[in-house]
This record gives sequence, structure tokens and C-alpha cells, in this order.
Amino acid sequence: MRNRPTVLFLLFLAALVTSHAQPPRYFEPAAMMTIGVYYYPEAWPASQWARDMANIKKLGLEYVHMGEFAWAFMEPQEGQFNLDWLEKSVRLAAEQGLKVVLCTPSATPPVWLVRSHPEVLMVDSGGRRMNHGSREHACWSVPLYRAYVAKVVAELGRRFGNNPAIWGWQIDNELSHYGKNYCYCRSCQGKFRGWLRARYGAIERLNRDWGNSFWSQMYQNFDQIDIPNQEELVQQVNPHARLDFQRWFAAEAADYIKFQADLLRKTTRNQWITTNFMSMHGEVDPTLSGKDLDIVTWTLYPVHGNLNEGPLGFRLGNGAEISFMHDFTRTINGAEGLMELQPGQVNWGEVNSWPYPGAIRMWILRAFAAGAKLVCTYRYRQPLSGGELYHKGLAETDGVTPSIGGLEYAQAMKDIQLLRRYYTPGAKEPPEYAARRAGFLYNFENRWDIDNHRQTVRWDTLGHLLKYYKALKSLGCPVDVIAEDKEFSRYPFLVAPAYQLVDQKLIERLTSYVRQGGHLVLSCRTGHKDRRGHLWEAAWAAPVHDLIGAKIPLYDVLPPPVTGKVRVKDKSYDWGVWGEILEPTAGVSALARYADQFYSGKTAAISRKLGKGTVTYIGVESLAGDLERDLLREVFQTAGVAVENFDNQFIVDWRDGFWVATNFTDKKQPLPLRPGAKLLIGEKVLGPAGVAVWQ
Ligand code: GAL
Ligand code: ZN
Repeated sequence: MRNRPTVLFLLFLAALVTSHAQPPRYFEPAAMMTIGVYYYPEAWPASQWARDMANIKKLGLEYVHMGEFAWAFMEPQEGQFNLDWLEKSVRLAAEQGLKVVLCTPSATPPVWLVRSHPEVLMVDSGGRRMNHGSREHACWSVPLYRAYVAKVVAELGRRFGNNPAIWGWQIDNELSHYGKNYCYCRSCQGKFRGWLRARYGAIERLNRDWGNSFWSQMYQNFDQIDIPNQEELVQQVNPHARLDFQRWFAAEAADYIKFQADLLRKTTRNQWITTNFMSMHGEVDPTLSGKDLDIVTWTLYPVHGNLNEGPLGFRLGNGAEISFMHDFTRTINGAEGLMELQPGQVNWGEVNSWPYPGAIRMWILRAFAAGAKLVCTYRYRQPLSGGELYHKGLAETDGVTPSIGGLEYAQAMKDIQLLRRYYTPGAKEPPEYAARRAGFLYNFENRWDIDNHRQTVRWDTLGHLLKYYKALKSLGCPVDVIAEDKEFSRYPFLVAPAYQLVDQKLIERLTSYVRQGGHLVLSCRTGHKDRRGHLWEAAWAAPVHDLIGAKIPLYDVLPPPVTGKVRVKDKSYDWGVWGEILEPTAGVSALARYADQFYSGKTAAISRKLGKGTVTYIGVESLAGDLERDLLREVFQTAGVAVENFDNQFIVDWRDGFWVATNFTDKKQPLPLRPGAKLLIGEKVLGPAGVAVWQ
């Protein structure tokens, strides 16, 4: 008898291994990347569906995405399902040779559901229950809501799980409550308490880890705890309580994604599953879902009134940020794609400008360069009514004429078809490119903890990370944005900016990475706290001292518009966000020194050898990001690795045997062509929004 559980466990393990041994089927390998589009059959007369599918095919696109917000049509009355219309649309798509991505409709519950069960609606920080009339107004932690979701998802799975026209599935849509984050409903309150109970066991431990001796915050039992809510507090929220709530919220979102994925997997065969995360979104952490999804996808709208960089930034988008997201999502489980990409003007920005001519095609080719497996655009037809009626589609308002965006998608599809002809599987990465490979440590808990207490209004966590990321891309590095679950040793260079929360194990891993020959770059704020968000009962940032070879007796921040100066050799840089004064130990060299303020002459950045590798610590953030770039260049130079010198926002990557350059700047950029290079797409000098591919 004693053996039975072991046998069962082994069988379970074997099942796990086999289910993962079968690679998810994206498409034939030679396809590399494919492009598709959203279509909402429920919004258009059935008599137009066949025509629209034929026109999508004419644009060259290869798949259609449907069903996303159609719960009211799928289940018009409780328990009465109608999927015939969807099946018909799927058939019409298949008749054109288009594959179909189906979507679970859980972002938009039908009105009958929320009227009969208002308790499924989310509650915002002001205690207001949200109402029917837009989307993401239900709370996915409410068990009753999950029960309704389960029914419709199971029905979809039963009906389409064996349909060969269905290529894959998207769960929900941009899981979040958008600007209303977070939810404070009874169910969330209860589940958060349960999570805390499981995490801490005893209330005394929670009181200690939350620092509750301060201001008499002591709890006597878990039932007394409410979700920390700034709106209900006279002064600042407890940062440890908030950090835990953010952890719980992200874990609960991941649990909901898994809940839907598990349901679909019961009835689907050879169909992949994803969900579409939002770009740079902070509340839901995609890394928590890597094992539950076959491919990690996300949504990208680069132009919506944001200025970005340079005079054309508002039309081109932020290339570095886009590239960062690709490098982040690709690394989670090895497969990524854009589930939504802007097709032209949007409706929801403060100013909804046109993208620069060619920019849409450039975003698609940037996705290709970054390794994306698919790109999909929201949406085929411009809506004539409803909240997004100013939103462009691939077809004009007449429903048939391709829009400017439509033509750019068609062009990009032609580009991909051309590249498929030159594709040879297994192409070897150019050695000079591989030598520059950098890991970039990124962690949502750090982001939350820093944002919960920035200490200066000038601090911008993502802005800080992007200064380092941009520097790496301007040096021509391939970058993997990784979480701590990844092996560091496969990266000759590892950058961990503002890595505020650490533990001894991480410091040991980083130290042994360096000793074995890695080149590590850390920046200000790293190691200031433990994982609970406590300062160390030791010297400031004590755990990193031995690794970086310095103490950090003080840091300073300057009120805007005051700027300070910092010098590297003869060059001066402006800073103002964050500056740490470093006290290097013997044998550690100072790279940068402050040139004014009361600590003029003191050290701002250092580097040292450690074992076979090097550690560089940059304690100051420059305003323009130029100091970061110059110091990173030195790291590569010291390591004897040749780098490029690209303009910021001129981004070049290698994928599957192709070099791809995308120009997000307003200037002409020459391609870094080697003698004998064969240019397949584009010109030798790229204008703004220009794209080139060569071998
Ligand atoms: C996305 C969303 C889509 C649509 C689009 C409009 O964020 O997922 O459903 O609303 O924005 O640009
Ligand atoms: Zn809730």
C-alpha cells in the first residue's frame, strides 16, 4: 500500500512530461511568423461575413481572431448557448484558408448575469460597485463569476476543441480592470486574507513583517485585515501590506488564467492557448503564467499622443520600450507574439495622431526581429458605432476599401512571404552578436516596491530600466529580459538595474556568476531592502557591499529643476533623479565622480574585477541616459567584446538567419552591412520608420 501514492505521483509526473513533450503547434516551422486580424461577426450583417473573410484573405493575412467580447451572443439567456453563428463564421474563414483564433468572452459578461448576480461586479477603491456598460467590470476572484465563466468556456471547448480550423485560443482580454484597478469586493477581501493566512500562518509573523508596531497597526487575527486602500487612509498606506496585496492580486490573476486554460485543455486537441497581456502593465505579471500558456502574447499601441523621443516620437512610438516588451515576453516560455497591434489612429489616447507612414509595417518587422511567432491586429473593420468608433481598422468605414494601415499590413505580409523563401532552419547566430548577449533582470516585486515609495517625484522605475535597456540596444546587444528563474551563466553580460529587493541567495548567485566570468552591471537602489521590503539591520545596502566592493553611506535626490553634475574622465553629465555616494574599498576603481553639491569629488560609479568576471555599480542616474550608455560601453570594452554604436532608437537584431533594422528615429540611419551582405528588404540608408532585412 505504501507504494501506491508514489506510483500515482510518478504517473502524474509522466503525464506532465508527456503533455509538455508535445510542442505546441503554432504553424509550420518555415512560416516563422504569421499575421492575422480581429473580426467581430456579431457586429456585422451575416450577409457580409463571406465577403469580409475573402477581403482579409486578399490582404494576404493568414488567420482571423473572433469571439472575444461576444458572451451576450454566445449565451443570450442563462444556460442557453448559441454558437451556430460563430461556427458559421469559422467555416467561412476556413473556406478562405484562414486559421481561426477563438477567444473566451469573460471580459464582457452579459447583462442578465450581472443583473441577477450583482455580486460578480468589481468594487473600486472608492467602494463603488461597477456596472454593466463597458468591460472588465466583473471580478474574476468571485467564485460565482468563475462558475459562469466555466460554463461558457466549457461550451466553447466542447464545440470547437476538435475543429481543425481552430488554431488556438485567447483567454479573456487584457486581464485587468484598466484604470479602476484594484478590486476591493468581498471575495477579494476574503481571498486576500486566506492568502495571508497561508503565507504567514500566525498573525504575529504578519505583524512583524508588515512593521505593524508602527502607529498601532497591530492585528489580532487575519479576519481583521482589509485590503490596504489609500482612499480609506488618512496617511500613507503600509508599504509591506501593499506589496503583499500586489503579490496576491497578480497571483490571483494568474490563477484565473490557469483556471480557464485548464478548462480548455479538457476538450481541445492540438490547439494552443494564450492570453493577451498589456504592454508594460504593472498589476498582472505574465511571468506567473509562463507554464500555463503555450505562447505569451501582448497588446501594442505605440502611438496615442505620447511624445516618446525626438520630434517624430509621437508618430513612431518608443522603439526601445517595444523591443523591451518583446525581449521580456519571449523569454518567459520561449514563444511570444503580438495579439493586438495598432492599425492606424486609435480612439482612447489624449491625442490620437496618425502613425508615421511606414511605422505600422516597421512595428510588424520589429516583432519579427525580436522573434515573435505571430502578429495580430485589432481590428479588421472600423466600427461605425459604439465606444471605439474612431478606431481605425484594416478596412475603411465602407467595410471594403483597405485603409492605410490595411495596406501596411498587406506589405508586411509580403515581406514575411519573401523572407520565408530565404529561410533556412537552424541558421547559426553570428558569433560577434552572440558574444554581446545580455541578460536583463526584471522583477515585478521590485517595480511595485519602488513605485510604492519612490522617494522623489523624479523617479520613474520603467524609465530607469529603459535607460539601461536602450544603452544595450545601442551597443547592438541581443537582450533577454529575464526573471530570477532563468540561469544567469548563459549570458556573458548581466544587467540588473534598481534591483531593490534581494536576499542572500540572490547575492550568492550573482557573486558566483561573476566569479565564473560573468560581467555584472548593477545600478542605484539595488539591494536596499529584503524581500519583505524591510531595510537591513546593518549598514545601508549591506548585502551588496562585498559584491560591488563599496559601501553606500548616503544617497541624494534633487528637487526639480535642480540638476547636479557628475564626471567620467573629461566628460560631464547632468543628474537629478538619484545619486548614491559610494565609498569604494581598495582595488575598486572609481568610474564617475560627483562634480558639485556638498559631496563634490566623491564616487558615483565603480567597477572591479572579481574572480574571472567584473562588477560595475552605477550609483547615479543621468538625466539623458548618456552616462549609463558610456559606462556600459566600457564594460564591454574591458571584456574585449566589440560593440556597435547605434543611435538610440535605431534597433538592429538578428533572427533566424536575418539581420533586421528598424528606425524609430527622425534621422537617416546607415545600415551596419558587412561586405557581401545581401539586402532583401529596404535601402542601405534608412529614413524614419524605415525597415531593412539582410543576410
Ligand atoms: C486594446 C483592447 C482592445 C481594444 C483596443 C483599442 O487595449 O484590448 O479590445 O479596445 O485596445 O485600441
Ligand atoms: Zn473582487
